[in-house]
Amino acid sequence: VRWDGEALNLLDQRRLPDEVHIDRYTRADEVRRAIAELRVRGAPAIGIAAAYGLVLALAPHRDRPPAAFLAAVRTEAAMLRTARPTAVNLTWALDRVMTAAQRDTKGSDPSVSSASSVPRWQAMRAEAVAIHEEDRAMCRAIGEHGVHLIRPGCAVLTHCNAGALAVSELGTATAPMYLAHARGVPFRVVACETRPLLQGARLTAWELSRAGIDVTVICDSAAAHAMAAREVDLVIVGADRVTRNGDVVNKIGTSALAVLAKHFGIPFYVACPSSTLDSHTATGTEVTIEERGRDEVATIAGRCIVPEGVKVRNPAFDVTPGALVTAIITDRGLLKENMTEAREPSE
Ligand code: MRU
Repeated sequence: VRWDGEALNLLDQRRLPDEVHIDRYTRADEVRRAIAELRVRGAPAIGIAAAYGLVLALAPHRDRPPAAFLAAVRTEAAMLRTARPTAVNLTWALDRVMTAAQRDTKGSDPSVSSASSVPRWQAMRAEAVAIHEEDRAMCRAIGEHGVHLIRPGCAVLTHCNAGALAVSELGTATAPMYLAHARGVPFRVVACETRPLLQGARLTAWELSRAGIDVTVICDSAAAHAMAAREVDLVIVGADRVTRNGDVVNKIGTSALAVLAKHFGIPFYVACPSSTLDSHTATGTEVTIEERGRDEVATIAGRCIVPEGVKVRNPAFDVTPGALVTAIITDRGLLKENMTEAREPSE
């Protein structure tokens, strides 16, 4: 995700690993479509993209009076909000940019129709840039808090892509890995392929291998075998939302890995920025789980693999009970299920 001052530049993640293709977006409806179609994906990245999308949406309204401008902010934010339902970062980022629009400006009254809305729009743009910059800092902090978990010679299993592609700079689940690698710690990563859209095989394997990190892709269904064979020492995954009771909503298949890790006595960590902690939602059962289209499951490389007429379900996320999570690695430190500080494992 890159903001060039006037437009949003997004790497089209659907085309990886075959092609590195960047599109330039100047319209909010196109940004919404890019999020819905997973050209840009990963909880923090869609929040950042939506924040810039709202800025783009309001650019043509800058000269309107505040009341009309703020009405347009509400309409456009509502449009962007519908792009994807599960990741809390999307609504969190839009709410922040909306609040910035309200906050303005040297005491001007929104009901005074003659005032320009340029300062409000500038405040929105500054807020979107701040969200983006804070995200980079949070990833680095997650890395610092989690790097000690990666011991020399260990194997870390991860699922989906909670890497640089999904966030900024170091990613979340990958941040401890990037820092450990930079500090010369030898370790291996096992990446679950992550059916149906293969974020693990296509994206995590792509970015880690480019960084020189030893990564092996396995089928999702091979995780139990790898754990039973002691080929996995710990699991680190990302999150789209962590509810007040510590339930973790993340890519479909995450909860199965947590159950397996519990069975095999393997620590199961979730890495996420504070922007993914949702204090407004009590438990994972209250979260809307996105159901995506049939074709993502029923076709592989354009070829239908499910007999015509057979029903298909495609939930994109699941809920891992907080009790199965060893700790949540955040930019503020390690948290336990009840959101209290976890004791760092001894060196
Ligand atoms: O459907 P996706 O690819 O957007 O799902 C992404 C995930 O589940 C990630 O693990 C999560 O968003 C964390 S990204 C730092």
